[in-house]
Amino acid sequence: MKSKTQPIKSKIEIKEPININSKEFINNKYEYYKLLREEYPVCKGKVSVIDAYFISRYDDCVNFLKDPRFVRNRTTATGGGRFPFPLPKSVSLIANSMITEDEPDHRRLRNLVHQAFTHHSLAKMEGRIEQLTNDLLDKAEKQGTVDLKQAYALPIPVTVIQEMVGVADEDMPQFYNGLKALSEGFSGLTLLRTLFWDMPRLSKFVRELIDRKRSNPSEDILTALIQAETEGEKLSEDELVAMVFLLIIAGYETTVYLILNSVLTLLQHPDQLALLRSQPELINSAVEEILRYRGPIQGTKPGYALEDVVLHGVTIPKGAAVFPLLGAANHDRDVFENPEVFDITRSPNKHLGFGNGIHTCLGAPLARMETRIAIANLIIRNPNLRLAVDVSQLELINIPLWHGYKNLPVMLK
Ligand code: HEM
Repeated sequence: MKSKTQPIKSKIEIKEPININSKEFINNKYEYYKLLREEYPVCKGKVSVIDAYFISRYDDCVNFLKDPRFVRNRTTATGGGRFPFPLPKSVSLIANSMITEDEPDHRRLRNLVHQAFTHHSLAKMEGRIEQLTNDLLDKAEKQGTVDLKQAYALPIPVTVIQEMVGVADEDMPQFYNGLKALSEGFSGLTLLRTLFWDMPRLSKFVRELIDRKRSNPSEDILTALIQAETEGEKLSEDELVAMVFLLIIAGYETTVYLILNSVLTLLQHPDQLALLRSQPELINSAVEEILRYRGPIQGTKPGYALEDVVLHGVTIPKGAAVFPLLGAANHDRDVFENPEVFDITRSPNKHLGFGNGIHTCLGAPLARMETRIAIANLIIRNPNLRLAVDVSQLELINIPLWHGYKNLPVMLK
């Protein structure tokens, strides 16, 4: 069978504008990153249909994420809409969440949910995640060969975020289908279907969810947010919808791919897997190294230039969208010794897998906890864990600035 992940070209070359959605780029991204860092530290390109500039060196990415000359709210920088093209209202309001806001709105929104994601608040989730992972493994191990995504990596974060946010079990099928459409629909023509069909439907569903919760409050984030909304000033209804959307979307698929990338990378590095089995206390630094080596999120949301900014001799014009390539920064040899070596004992490891600056991932403690427990239980209970297909059969997802596989067939026990 023809390999799905084999390089399409034998020699990597860059022609601006670079298309980071192309299969060629997606399948060879780490080689492209190397060339970008070395020769095109500021490169013109496209993310889906959006014109953009990419920066790829570690220091440039960190500086950019803290640079007041770049803002998240496109309207502030360009005077135009929040998106470079018109979208249905139900879709555009979803974009008005903390991740695309600047201070002080960003801080106001982040403060409303920050408490739920502190280590202290999450401590009570630990037992629940232990139980969930063991229940899923009980089932999967009986089958022997499974797609680890469907059987394990997906239900863990979906269940956790469902319970934290407060989505009722009977709402899950509709919710799940909506999310599935989003995660599969960001390339080519499916982008239009996603934007004009799936997202408005999901947005309507989130509004209905909020209405149901109003009459049936409980101990969850959604109830707390509705409370903040009814107290006025703190949160508008549109912001409430955007927040629920962000938490759900940011909180589940990222973790699915972190779990899957962890399993695949460990299986591809048997010496590191053996080391982890013999020294389970290395699990925390192993998770950090996956985030650096094969993190699921390869770039942040764009920052828009408030003025012309010159970097490495390239003028980024006022209003232009700039994306820091976190995946490229995480392999910068000026910061990481032997960056292409996967080393679960790496220290220090100041990777950018959760971003940097004021938008640093809010859910990082939760993502770390879920992944740590998921991987530890999987490898302890399955000493013979192995891939059920050749690695060349695995297919990368085509979501801009993500890294993950569509599925991961494995043999358990
Ligand atoms: C492996 C898992 C995860 C990864 C790799 C990840 C990565 C990231 C990154 C790179 C950012 C910065 C984006 C930017 O600057 O535009 C971010 C922001 C964010 N993440 Fe995560 N994330 C993960 C899991 C989660 C979880 C479980 C949640 C919780 C619900 C979450 C909620 C958020 C939120 C709310 C933001 C926006 C923060 C802000 O704008 O201040 N993430 N995440």
